[in-house]
Amino acid sequence: MMFSKLKKSTLFFALITGASVSGAAQANVYNVDYYLRAKLQHHQVFPVNPPATQPAALVELGRNLFFEKEISGRRNMSCSTCHSPVLGSADAQSQSRGQGAIGLGPSRRKNGDEFFQFLPRNTLSLWNRGVAGWDTMFWDGRLGGTPATGFFSPAGADTPQNFSNALAAFSIIPVTPDEEMRGFPGQLDVFGQPNEMAGLTNDDFAQIWPLVTARVVNNDGYNDLLAAAFPGVKDEDIDITHIAEALGAFMTDEFTALNSPFDRYLAGDNNALSVNAKKGALLFYGRANCASCHSGGLQTDFDFHNIAAPQVGTGRGEAAPLDLGRGAITNNPEDNFKFRTPSLRNIELEAPYFHNGAFAKLEDAVRHHLDPKASLASYDDSQVEPEHVGTFQDDLSTIFSLWSTVSPRLTVTGEPLNDDEIDNLMAFLSALTDPSSLNMLDSVPDKLPSGLTLAD
Ligand code: HEC
Ligand code: HEC
Repeated sequence: MMFSKLKKSTLFFALITGASVSGAAQANVYNVDYYLRAKLQHHQVFPVNPPATQPAALVELGRNLFFEKEISGRRNMSCSTCHSPVLGSADAQSQSRGQGAIGLGPSRRKNGDEFFQFLPRNTLSLWNRGVAGWDTMFWDGRLGGTPATGFFSPAGADTPQNFSNALAAFSIIPVTPDEEMRGFPGQLDVFGQPNEMAGLTNDDFAQIWPLVTARVVNNDGYNDLLAAAFPGVKDEDIDITHIAEALGAFMTDEFTALNSPFDRYLAGDNNALSVNAKKGALLFYGRANCASCHSGGLQTDFDFHNIAAPQVGTGRGEAAPLDLGRGAITNNPEDNFKFRTPSLRNIELEAPYFHNGAFAKLEDAVRHHLDPKASLASYDDSQVEPEHVGTFQDDLSTIFSLWSTVSPRLTVTGEPLNDDEIDNLMAFLSALTDPSSLNMLDSVPDKLPSGLTLAD
């Protein structure tokens, strides 16, 4: 304590007088901290408040549900099929694969002759989604809200309102699409039995949710977990919002990752970041202009921008093979190709990058921002999975329309970044990794309450 006080006052003295603390090299290091802390203050980057501790019984129910295949139409996949605790809470695929595919992570592929359809987007990670203020979900923000403002979702007027946050509200959505967890007509479950949810359509939300809830409530393995999580609530009063609150509590408990070197630096420890990471941070919050979109403690403004990501993969909806992103939600052409600014927490754990997984390497995703025109001109689609090779839309009319709504904030002030500077920027991104997120095998339950296998 005494020592650190002494060090701080010496530093303060050194800064106002310009005197060297103990040799030129060290003075330089101190100066980096002085400038960096001033920049962080200027950009209003403060320590992130962790979410409240979640009730243990609710977390335990949610943990089991997160790995539970019983809630998918064919009893063949769970949330963890795509959000793996050992793959950065995602699946390491450009675009994720639901029904009709088998295997986990990079080895998940179409299963023989089964009907299969790609999900149109790259799986989002789940880090810090329970932090207060994370009220906008999906790459295109089509779900969100707070208890005060109410919640909106693809379910429209059917959207339940009694959620504690947007993360819980989100959790009722993945069970509904046929290509994701619900299954297609005619596809039997893993026991060769009919799937009672398959006859419905994707927008029959109000009919799908009670069927999903019944799968849990009618399974004896869940009796004690439900009773502990919702004491006094009768089985017939459990609905999809209870399932969602439990999933939300588990994800908040498990995927909050706020102990990175950068968090420790924000909390006041000048030694938490390497010199290179500090130089990278000075670029991120300075000349490279990253913080104009990747703002705040989680490096996102939760707003939508077009950074001219390569249009590769299946595309989404009527615009396929293009993906109009936010524009398809607002129907305003000015929003075309805009996507929600991703948080950069634990970013090195969740390759591939961008809404369609266009870039396999983090450094290439970063370099794209620095010169999007050159990046598009040299984009190589052999880095996406084999099925998407050859889908890069590089015709002039696509490139022009992509360019028409590109963000003016993609500008580096002064000289372009040289290779050393990009290395420093990468060192800063690496300092956003919470070491406890590297091994999350402990989160996996030993067995599933339904008795279904955890293996794929
Ligand atoms: C077949 C793969 C797949 C499965 C299964 C799946 N997800 Fe996802 N998840 C995705 C994809 C892809 C996205 C991004 C979709 C988009 O933005 O259009 C996503 C997005 C999310 C998000 C939004 C994160 C954000 O930043 O907006 C949450 C939360 C989430 N999933 C939780 C779950 C839960 C809970 C389950 C189980 C009930 C689940 N997912 C099942 C693939 C999957
Ligand atoms: C104009 C706003 C904006 C600026 C400025 C910006 N970004 Fe981004 N960034 C985005 C958006 C939007 C995406 C997602 C684009 C997509 O998926 O199509 C993104 C994606 C990323 C990704 C990939 C994240 C993921 O989950 O796939 C990284 C890494 C990244 N940005 C780093 C940076 C760095 C480093 C800088 C500064 C050199 C920077 N960004 C500047 C808006 C911005």
